[in-house]
Amino acid sequence: MMQHRPHTTVVMAMSADGKIADVRRSPARFGSLADKAHLEKQVAASDAILFGAGTLRAYGTTLIVSHPQLLQQRTNLGKSAQPVHIVVTHSGKLNPEINFFKQPVKRWLLTTTAGAVFWQTTTEFEQILIFETPTEKIDISTALQHLTNLGITRVAVLGGGSLAASMLELNLIDELWLTVCPLILGGASAPTPVDGMGFLPQLAPRLQLLEVQTVEQEVFLHYTFCPTSDLSSIG
Ligand SMILES: NC(=O)c1ccc[n+]([C@@H]2O[C@H](COP(=O)([O-])OP(=O)(O)OC[C@H]3O[C@@H](n4cnc5c(N)ncnc54)[C@H](OP(=O)(O)O)[C@@H]3O)[C@@H](O)[C@H]2O)c1
Repeated sequence: MMQHRPHTTVVMAMSADGKIADVRRSPARFGSLADKAHLEKQVAASDAILFGAGTLRAYGTTLIVSHPQLLQQRTNLGKSAQPVHIVVTHSGKLNPEINFFKQPVKRWLLTTTAGAVFWQTTTEFEQILIFETPTEKIDISTALQHLTNLGITRVAVLGGGSLAASMLELNLIDELWLTVCPLILGGASAPTPVDGMGFLPQLAPRLQLLEVQTVEQEVFLHYTFCPTSDLSSIG
């Protein structure tokens, strides 16, 4: 059944051995300037950016659209200069001192009743969205439907691997942009584009390759997810 939710695109950079960060989960700064420009273009094409608390904890900031042409394009389309930046967290445990809270973007929090408690008494987040399943997990599906009702039609999911896995398990991802960068990070516990419990081959989400671009030493892969009605992860 077609879901009434925004179009979602995961955008990530990974090492040639499939890691999105090193074993210390440091911020991933191994992409080139071309990759950063690519990411900024994807951000600029979105109404909202979604990322997990782990990603925010690693970087402490978010990516702002700053290229004049991209800003102009957004203005021409009647959009605000920056998309809304939405942090997904069960716990709500984020450091209010990080630079993210000083950046000139609208910040929303997608969390649980417990995760919202601290932030409800502060002004850091313009909106606090609480969508909970009966087991007190975040109900991302319903949250996305709510975003559609607020006029958000395109969402870029900027990581990390836990958030991408939880959305993929629910069949909530439409497209994937992966930049393959020329380095090896290794490490059995280093994060990958999709972590979580994993999928058995017969249930694995299938992709269709839309385009491949090579810029110097990096390869930009653009996929769409093939429609499927039943995705189940191991576990
Ligand atoms: N190379 C790249 O393009 C790229 C992009 C992004 C991130 N990264 C790297 O990836 C690493 C972070 O990835 P990660 O997998 O650890 O973190 P993540 O997916 O960014 O965040 C995980 C956390 O987000 C919250 N969360 C995620 N999915 C949720 C869900 N469905 N419901 C409720 N809360 C949810 C939880 O927060 P709470 O713990 O607060 O409950 C969870 O612990 C960092 O090392 C970062 O550098 C790389």
